[in-house]
Amino acid sequence: MHIPSKLPDVGTTIFAVMSALANEHSAINLSQGFPDFSCPEELIESVHRFMREGYNQYPPMSGVPQLRQAIADKYASLYQTALDADTEVTVTSGATEALFCAITALVNPGDEVIIFDPAYDAYEPVIQLSGGITRRIKLSYPDYAIDWHQVKACINAKTRLIILNNPHNPTGSILTSHDIQNLQALVSNTPVFLLADEVYEHIVFDGSQHQSLLRFEDLRARSFVVSSFGKTYHMTGWKIGYCIAPPDMSAEFRKIHQFNTFTTCTPMQYALAEFLQYSGYYRSLGEFYQNKRNHFLARMKSSRFKALPCHGTYFQLMSYADITDQHDIEFARKLTTESGIASIPVSVFYGDGCDEKVLRFCFAKDTETLDKAAEILCKI
Ligand SMILES: Cc1ncc(COP(=O)(O)O)c(C=O)c1O
Repeated sequence: MHIPSKLPDVGTTIFAVMSALANEHSAINLSQGFPDFSCPEELIESVHRFMREGYNQYPPMSGVPQLRQAIADKYASLYQTALDADTEVTVTSGATEALFCAITALVNPGDEVIIFDPAYDAYEPVIQLSGGITRRIKLSYPDYAIDWHQVKACINAKTRLIILNNPHNPTGSILTSHDIQNLQALVSNTPVFLLADEVYEHIVFDGSQHQSLLRFEDLRARSFVVSSFGKTYHMTGWKIGYCIAPPDMSAEFRKIHQFNTFTTCTPMQYALAEFLQYSGYYRSLGEFYQNKRNHFLARMKSSRFKALPCHGTYFQLMSYADITDQHDIEFARKLTTESGIASIPVSVFYGDGCDEKVLRFCFAKDTETLDKAAEILCKI
């Protein structure tokens, strides 16, 4: 039997392809965005304890109350944002589920959604499943900033949603207060909603401030703000994320969440609630990854790759324009199979496959791994 595809253009993601290639060729895998070091030991102990104590059945649909409250407390302490844990915070199975629920709750057939290229790959398929139309706006090379004139020109009566990813994967760019002012001015008298993918919220460098939409009451009132514990506590495989939105928006979000996953893993939610209450781990995460970025860049100094600005996330973009004019997908394959370093070609994040001769390297790796990778890259 043949199923007419709802997503005819979607194949296996480049992340799976490059990781498989990395395994096949025993390459150092700087492609997929996950750490090769362990999460805090206390968290693992705590999950075990909650499991042994019998916290193994379905939790409430919106997440265990202790975790929702701990999330609300975190933002009260970080941004003095008062959140109602019962009506504004929903725990999800990773940020991916939260993105799915938010887009599905909002987008109707024919609605337009603005995203910024190069864009994380989880947005467009969901827009498409809802019958929406994706409007892609290119970020400017090489600083990958938003051209707000283009955004203004793109907004029309059909614009339903703007998706912002801050800090930005794959480019490592961040929104500035100037960006926020532009955004405020643009949407203030419109019915446009916002979806802020802030999974790298704590990974911001060089003294910059993370411009979370939760800081701004006017923006918060029209936003779904999505985050994930996976990036913050080095356990991307636990797939626990959350979405913060005003009560009416959260109610619609939960209608989708309820019939998608209904809820997510119980003992891990309790462990995270406990950990959040006593640990300020996330407060030093920016410094932790800044040191890794600096270490990698120092080791890459003598290479022919040119580092592009990286203000956040755990990804470093490198231009190889001085090395070859090969297409980035071809060059990334060659680097994996012949030199033993897997990366992600940035063209795959563009709707039109734009090839700027740039690769993305994940530096959420042990020093030893980064040293080995840099040593090889410096010989290319
Ligand atoms: C920008 C962005 N959003 C969302 C996600 C997905 O997060 P999760 O693993 O919690 O579903 C990722 C993971 O790489 C990401 O980079």
